[in-house]
Amino acid sequence: MSDTDKPRGLRSRAWFNDPSHPDMTALYLERYLNYGISREELQSDRPIIGIAQTGSDLSPCNRHHMVLAERVRDGIREAGGIPIEFPVHPIQETGKRPTAGLDRNLAYLSLVETLYGYPLDGVVLTIGCDKTTPAMLMAAATVDLPAIALSVGPMLNGWHKGERTGSGTIVWKARQMLAAGEIDYTGFVDLVASSAPSTGYCNTMGTATTMNSLAEALGMQLPGSAAIPAPYRQRGEMAWRTGRRIVDMVREDLKPSDIMTRDAFLNAIAVNSAIGGSTNAPIHLAAIARHVGVELSLADWQAVGHDIPLLVNLQPAGEYLGEDYYHAGGVPAVIGQLIGQGLIREDAITANGRTIGDNCRDVAIALPEVIRPFDQPLKERAGFLVMTGNLFDSAIMKTSVISEGFRDRFLRNPADPDAFEGRAIVFDGPEDYHRRIDDPALGITGTDILVIRGCGPVGYPGAAEVVNMRPPSYLVKAGIAELPCLGDGRQSGTSGSPSILNASPEAAAGGNLALLRTYDRVRIDLGKGRVDVQLADGELERRRAELDAAGGYAYPASQTPWQAIQRRDVGQLGTGAILEDAERFQKIDKVFGVPRDSH
Ligand code: FES
Ligand code: MG
Repeated sequence: MSDTDKPRGLRSRAWFNDPSHPDMTALYLERYLNYGISREELQSDRPIIGIAQTGSDLSPCNRHHMVLAERVRDGIREAGGIPIEFPVHPIQETGKRPTAGLDRNLAYLSLVETLYGYPLDGVVLTIGCDKTTPAMLMAAATVDLPAIALSVGPMLNGWHKGERTGSGTIVWKARQMLAAGEIDYTGFVDLVASSAPSTGYCNTMGTATTMNSLAEALGMQLPGSAAIPAPYRQRGEMAWRTGRRIVDMVREDLKPSDIMTRDAFLNAIAVNSAIGGSTNAPIHLAAIARHVGVELSLADWQAVGHDIPLLVNLQPAGEYLGEDYYHAGGVPAVIGQLIGQGLIREDAITANGRTIGDNCRDVAIALPEVIRPFDQPLKERAGFLVMTGNLFDSAIMKTSVISEGFRDRFLRNPADPDAFEGRAIVFDGPEDYHRRIDDPALGITGTDILVIRGCGPVGYPGAAEVVNMRPPSYLVKAGIAELPCLGDGRQSGTSGSPSILNASPEAAAGGNLALLRTYDRVRIDLGKGRVDVQLADGELERRRAELDAAGGYAYPASQTPWQAIQRRDVGQLGTGAILEDAERFQKIDKVFGVPRDSH
């Protein structure tokens, strides 16, 4: 055993039990005694386990973690640890304006400070709503303390008039119904509210179910943890098991860098295709990988993910919802199918100390309608297409949501079945889109391409989920429910829109989308993975010079200090949109040891 392999002493004892430093020990110790913890406990060999609490009244998706934390504490105590719960900056996808995307990096920063600067030996990460999962895994990766994630679980299935109504997905449907005059304002709200029947996060395969599934595929949760609905009794049981397990992980010194290896990320990419995961996943996995020091690129998504079929029949790509996913077997059943085809790196170690192969090899599907056997998929080649061209360096497209109607309208040239050309209709941000989309003067037709820009990490700021634009209502009424969309923002994981998104660099960071004009012709070639505006040679350069002379692409001023700081330091969506300077701080607990004394 080399020096770095040896189990280390508890880092919390540098605060609580350093006889060479009685004054500082007393200072650190006394205030943690003031609510009844004893000196005997804090100076024992019991690990101090943080419970990073993302639930609050402001964060309803994760609020149930406030209840689950009691069972986590029970588990920690039972295994001989001491639980210390603390709050994490709230990130509520549906509540935060201008976008929760802005807060992922802020929560990351504050959690790094908390994990590194306080007497913690390990941590339970309470994941759930979209950005809470990547924010916490990114911070755990940077500090590299033993860490385990606990999903809060999806809401129960939503129902309306005998049909399942899924989070987010119902909003896109309700928008079309409103545009077509089938429902009014009250009908709209009632229909959408039916999709949120209980505590928990989005019950569709949106970004939350995606990222919670991927946290399990990465090995950072106990097997089977991701899919249990929030109100189910099994969720409380999993909280207790997770609390017990983290204490042993501290004793084994099993850290995020041991679990989140390149093999683990490639497994997560494969699982993302099979579940029909959100287009936010490449952004978040890139961010986590960079903070843990693993090489991962969009090319890996194309190479590993693109050819894997869609197995999970959840909305928006399919029919079912979170409860069905759980009863069908959840993530272990999906991974079991992929292992059968040799598509999982089976030796990747997971939070329970076993390999992912041992955890999932023999797990069978319980409901084959919900999780399909590998040889009866919902769709072949369900991964993302990685695109490039003369408007951006990288973007992705979720081809699994392309409908038959869309294919008939756009991909109908038998000589060139993967390509089409259309006129660009360009909007600068969602306000511009909402103001003009129904204006007949724009003359939008059923073969146009809707483009939105100014929506990336810098331009918005935070990258908004707006690259899923509905066509003008006169086209919806005529039966055209979708047009191709293109943009430098993100797309909600619950949307089924055929969109090319996450375009990097964004218009506000020098990307050529800033140069596109309404009625320019754009060629999209899904076979070659290219998007190109059809302009005469030199025209892009001429427009660039003109834009530069006018002061560059304009976007709204920062409204808060954090917006300004994020804009200054953030990278692009194609490489995770992390705070670029943060990447060099890796494994800081090992590299720097505990921070210097406070007094
Ligand atoms: Fe929180 Fe979807 S809004 S999980
Ligand atoms: Mg969203």
